[in-house]
Amino acid sequence: MDSGWSFHLGNDWGTGQSLAKAGAGMGPASVSQSVASWRRVDLPHDWAIELPFDPTADGSHGFRAVGEGFPQNSTSWYRRSFDLPAADAGKRLWLEFDGVYRDCTVFVNGWFVGHNESGYSGFRCDITDVANCGGTNIVAVRVDASQPEGWFYEGAGIYRHVWLVKTAPLAVAPDGGYVSSRFKDNVPVGTDVLHLEARLLNSQGSPADATVTWEISEPGGLAFATAARSARVPAWGTLDIDQAAEIRAPQLWSPETPRLYTLVTIIASGGRIVDRVETEFGVRTVGFDAEKGFLLNGKPYRLKGTSNHQDHAGVGSALPDGLQYFRIARLKEMGCNAYRTAHNPPTPELLEACDRLGMLVMDENRLIGSDAQHMDRLERQIRRDRNHPSVAIWSMGNEEFETEKTVAGARTVGTMQDLAKRLDPTRPVTFNADLGNEFAGIDGVIEVRGWSYHVGPAMDAYHKEHPLQPNVGSEQGSTVGTRGIYANDPVRGYVSAYDDNAPEWAQTAETWVGFFATRPWLSGGFVWTGFDYRGEPTPYGWPCINSHFGIMDTCGFPKDNYWYYQSWWTDRPVLHLMPHWNWPGREGEEIDVRALSNCDEVELFLNGASLGRQAMKPQSVLKWKVPYAPGVLSARGFEGGRVVAETKVETTGVPAVVQLKPDRIAIDASGEDVAVVTVAIADAQGRVMPVAGNEVSFELEGPGRILGVGNGDPSCHEPDTFVAVAPFRTVPVDGWRWRKIADPYPRNLPEEGTQFDDSAWDTTDVRAESGALGLRERAIFRSSFTVSEKDLEAPVIELWFGRISGGISVYVNGQIVGEATDPRTASVFDVKALLHPGENVVAVATANYGPEHSGLSRGVVLRLQGDPPPVHWRRSVFNGLAQVIVKSSREAGTLKLTARSDGLDPATLLLQSLPVAPRPAVP
Ligand code: GAL
Repeated sequence: MDSGWSFHLGNDWGTGQSLAKAGAGMGPASVSQSVASWRRVDLPHDWAIELPFDPTADGSHGFRAVGEGFPQNSTSWYRRSFDLPAADAGKRLWLEFDGVYRDCTVFVNGWFVGHNESGYSGFRCDITDVANCGGTNIVAVRVDASQPEGWFYEGAGIYRHVWLVKTAPLAVAPDGGYVSSRFKDNVPVGTDVLHLEARLLNSQGSPADATVTWEISEPGGLAFATAARSARVPAWGTLDIDQAAEIRAPQLWSPETPRLYTLVTIIASGGRIVDRVETEFGVRTVGFDAEKGFLLNGKPYRLKGTSNHQDHAGVGSALPDGLQYFRIARLKEMGCNAYRTAHNPPTPELLEACDRLGMLVMDENRLIGSDAQHMDRLERQIRRDRNHPSVAIWSMGNEEFETEKTVAGARTVGTMQDLAKRLDPTRPVTFNADLGNEFAGIDGVIEVRGWSYHVGPAMDAYHKEHPLQPNVGSEQGSTVGTRGIYANDPVRGYVSAYDDNAPEWAQTAETWVGFFATRPWLSGGFVWTGFDYRGEPTPYGWPCINSHFGIMDTCGFPKDNYWYYQSWWTDRPVLHLMPHWNWPGREGEEIDVRALSNCDEVELFLNGASLGRQAMKPQSVLKWKVPYAPGVLSARGFEGGRVVAETKVETTGVPAVVQLKPDRIAIDASGEDVAVVTVAIADAQGRVMPVAGNEVSFELEGPGRILGVGNGDPSCHEPDTFVAVAPFRTVPVDGWRWRKIADPYPRNLPEEGTQFDDSAWDTTDVRAESGALGLRERAIFRSSFTVSEKDLEAPVIELWFGRISGGISVYVNGQIVGEATDPRTASVFDVKALLHPGENVVAVATANYGPEHSGLSRGVVLRLQGDPPPVHWRRSVFNGLAQVIVKSSREAGTLKLTARSDGLDPATLLLQSLPVAPRPAVP
């Protein structure tokens, strides 16, 4: 249900909720309120990314004008209509939200249907009873991002998918299926005993007999095993039912072999199939050993992980699924095999990408707490994520400075860990503790000790004192560096990309990787971070707006450390030289040259002359001081005396051309697929200019659109996305007359029609703060206004009432436009279809039962809105590179992206958008 939402930045309507009467949602929560003038958006959507940067905003969240100090930008509304066929009557209907940032209230057809606080928990609203089957429905979502939930960029809005879920009254409960592998001693040898579980939900007044059949098909598709079980599900109740099935000689899942089986759970009742749920799963075992470290499929397996927040260049936290795959693929190319979802539950599509591409996941909870709300969130997270083979470890939380050493902290996390184990006995549980050799508190109760930094003697001492507890480097590393920058620059907010700088609480790549290499019991670790993220601009502040921790920048362009990790995390020969070789004016000066490689030996050459061969120590880098002379700096990597790798960096000419290179040349015409296009500025020989900063403008033709642009510059304040604001003008509607009437609920009276002669009524000025209508008085207000043929060409025409208190109904040219009005704020009606050239009549019936004088107040205007103007996409490259994210529509065809930069040859890229069967969309 991602397409076709209307969005309004800001909130003029309070909570929208009526605490007095059910179904009486106010403002945008009321069905009759017009949203015709709102912007159209598709989900996922992050409105924070559209806001300007502001030095007074919260820097840890990336200096966007949202949150504290920016109330006008911090609460917004989304609305959408959706049709339900008459045949849906009798089904259970849910709206399922994968994640909304943040505190959010959902209304359907004016009814309050749900509230969710955390920006990272999926939630569902049961709309069965309030849905209009055989007609149109309105969902309105109020989203309040004022209160941050973390200390990093978090976005704002409905930034994950929304689904409409329909089931029979007897069905598998949402997230009610569970499949896990059980092997003797947790070692996958021989037959896998699959543990199958289904929670059945019976939403009817009588018990129901159900037969559950589980069908398993192997990677590649053939169904080969089934199991079945029957039970009686109580009226209005749930029943957990389980069964075992066997897979002989299963094909195991691992990051290197991400083989997926499919489980189909079928529910039959009364001789009919009433539900069918498909679940992808993998067969594998995970565990920890206090000496051998992490175990995958019974064998020690070194975790080469990264911790990551969820935002990306151009789109903020609203990632299309294709970008999840893009990011996981980039990490895999580096040799990474594990991903920590710092510091919150991920979106399900991230886990799907990890299942399919092969990436282990540490699935982290946001906040610790054992009250009902926190436990409920944790339960939802585990029930939703526990079938993903990628999920290998649950993390109960991160660095709880106030409580991690306390008895209360230990009890709380102990209670949470018990819940995790009850819901999923197959996975180990950890907590990322910012503690050294300290056992009191959470470390003393947690199954696997998680280490947030503290590399050094504390780790050895802890292991010695607690030899039976396994360990994991849940947050390690933390080099700060900027792509393509080789000297610290506090003014511009850049940090050198040599692996030399880390915050005082953290370590460089070389330090932690070297320390962990000789200690298998530490299991490996999760670098802080794989990608730069917005916010936490350590070590500087403004003008820097994003972090420098990433091995890659916010676009996924590698910094030099990428090749350090690739060297020690992969087995293929790696050889990379840094820095670039464009240092005009520094001729003869010594340049710090480093080779990042896993070769035995590396020989360096400047313009063909050898500068010496050096032997590489494991987990280390090679360094030379090279007097600068323009030309070619090259290197050869040797293994056993044989050349296995070669590389070079060259002094380039001046910028001459723009280049465009997509990650894929064909995408799906699904309306949601993306191509990630690299923009480069190169010299006449096509060599990318490592210091270029030219501005590039973009134009896209064909069935698709540009979603966002970025360049990885941590201090760049250019827009990620361009939003067109529709022009509008307002025309006052004055000349009101009114008359009190006796009818308590005035409806369909002649006074509300067009022909009525009101010339004898009193005139009234409705622009005052409060109206003229006294307590328990009823009245009709009438006026008319003139519109021209030209006015009627405006795509959107709305009638805005500053305030109608005690409102009963509003008529335009004798036709009712709305019955519900908000007594506190503006009531807005879409009147375009009801107007005609010439004079138009408006009548409002009111009945005042409130405490103050009321009726019509704060003025009435006609608002005529034009089409939004076209936007002009542009972005500067940063050190030669920028990124454009192009999204398909549901129409197949050729997309043509053109990139132009002043004085340079432009580039054109053709992308094919190929026909596919798109996901079903709710009309
Ligand atoms: C860690 C924390 C991360 C991030 C990082 C910055 O302590 O877990 O979220 O703030 O420090 O160095």
